[in-house]
Amino acid sequence: MTKVFRVDPRDPDERYLQAAAEILRSGGLVAFPTETVYGLGADARSDAAVARIFEAKGRPQDNPLIVHVHSYDAVPALVRELPSRAEVLMYRFWPGPLTLVLRKSGILAERVSPGLETVGVRMPDHEVALRLIRIAGLPVAAPSANVSGRPSPTSPTHVLRDLDGRIDAVVDGGPCGIGVESTVLDLTVVPPAILRPGGTTREDIEEVLGDVVVDHPVQTEGDWAPRSPGMKYRHYAPAAQVYLVETGADGSDPLARFAEEYHIRGLKVGVLASSERCSAMGERVERPGIVWIDAGSERDLASVARDLFDNLRRFDDLGVDVIIAQAFPETGMGLAIMNRLLKAAGGRVLRGED
Ligand code: TXA
Ligand code: MG
Repeated sequence: MTKVFRVDPRDPDERYLQAAAEILRSGGLVAFPTETVYGLGADARSDAAVARIFEAKGRPQDNPLIVHVHSYDAVPALVRELPSRAEVLMYRFWPGPLTLVLRKSGILAERVSPGLETVGVRMPDHEVALRLIRIAGLPVAAPSANVSGRPSPTSPTHVLRDLDGRIDAVVDGGPCGIGVESTVLDLTVVPPAILRPGGTTREDIEEVLGDVVVDHPVQTEGDWAPRSPGMKYRHYAPAAQVYLVETGADGSDPLARFAEEYHIRGLKVGVLASSERCSAMGERVERPGIVWIDAGSERDLASVARDLFDNLRRFDDLGVDVIIAQAFPETGMGLAIMNRLLKAAGGRVLRGED
């Protein structure tokens, strides 16, 4: 049985945090809220504890984990060197949704980043996460707390849906505010490379560092070598087949047309569209066999990001076969949103003029 500790996200009950910290100290697995998504934590110094994470998630062994800390002071022990630009980024963006890939020291379990010289480190911006890590007194390795390949969990319900009975506890601190994972920035290469766009925008990072490279999210060539092992796996995928739809050059709205095409083939179709597109459809969104979900406003991409994984999971609950998802502009949080949608779609993009 997985224990559930329900806490106030801003003022969590010390006794529950103590109990959860004790589980981490004794090599167990605890899911906990962060500002991005729920993480599945274990003692990052223990190979046995970290091995349990991979087992519970069914995660490929070569996909490295992010190590979470509660203070700046915890970082030097984890890394071989701390370049000054790393320190600048830490003070500017931590606590917050930015993971820095740095050369690792010898204190972490080999399984955290097997075969790599590097480790990803971040300080989450969430009272529950920070206090849990502090009380446990360890660096906490934590991937997103979902079964590997499924959309990341942004609520304790998502965590339990995937991992109930497979992990020791979940600290329930309510829904996550950002909704997509941290930005993973590799500082061991020049120029620095965004391996995964996320909660800290490219624009914000470039304001500090100048130009950075953004690695392409989906493998297009057979021999393309991913810089982050996580890039080569299918991700964020609901049970339904996802298609990402870009509008035509003429500004036409092809969402309804594609939905209709799949519906005619006898499939149950979900459409994920902005509030603007949904209201432009009016009553036509109410049509048997085609379910429209309002993804949030195009003018508020943060809200689209916050609800994205929950919306993908809602389509699964509705039992749709195909999801037609609207493309969003790739600025600000849009870059992370499009990265997740493109991965969920396994690279399948439909264009308005197709
Ligand atoms: O917001 C987040 O980052 C959440 C919360 C729980 O902190 N965590 C998270 O972890 O999303 P995970 O394991 O689901 O994704 C980590 C990503 C993977 O794509 C992995 O390949 C990459 O970060 N990564 C981790 N360590 C790395 C390293 N040393 N080098 C390159 N990529 C790394
Ligand atoms: Mg993940």
